Amino acid sequence: MGKKGREIVEVDVEELLKELNGAYADEWIAFFYYTWAKDFVEGPDYPTVASELDRISKEEFEHMSELADRIYELGGEPERDLEDLQEMATCKKVAFPKNERDLEGVLNAVADAEACAIDVYNELLKKLSPCYDRDARTFHLIEHILSEEIQHEEAFENLLEKKRR
Ligand SMILES: [Fe+2]
Ligand SMILES: [Fe+2]
Repeated sequence: MGKKGREIVEVDVEELLKELNGAYADEWIAFFYYTWAKDFVEGPDYPTVASELDRISKEEFEHMSELADRIYELGGEPERDLEDLQEMATCKKVAFPKNERDLEGVLNAVADAEACAIDVYNELLKKLSPCYDRDARTFHLIEHILSEEIQHEEAFENLLEKKRR
């Protein structure tokens, strides 16, 4: 980040970098599992579920990349060790059913993963919000990601509801 860009940040940068790296790890994990699941699903309704998983996995990838940009701007480095990524993540695993035709099971698993992401970003936003102007750039980034995680949960829950009808 440029000199002035760093000067205006008035938060504990080390602590924030830890949080951002944790979220960065969560995004990689979501991207990995959703990408895996889009090829795993089978059965009559699988095209809709697969295309939603594909669309949302790309947004998780974007989140990961946006977080990496912010980590660099703050003078940090995104985690480069895969094993450490897994360790740092809050939402470590998406527990898919054994049966690839169990689309309800798949949708429940990804809706739970989104709920975990919502908690992570909501907590982070709460930490930043009392004095959001001390790091407005991070605040708005997290706010943007949170709103997309809320949309993801909604999208998966809507598909679940359709399946149950
Ligand atoms: Fe995400
Ligand atoms: Fe998401």
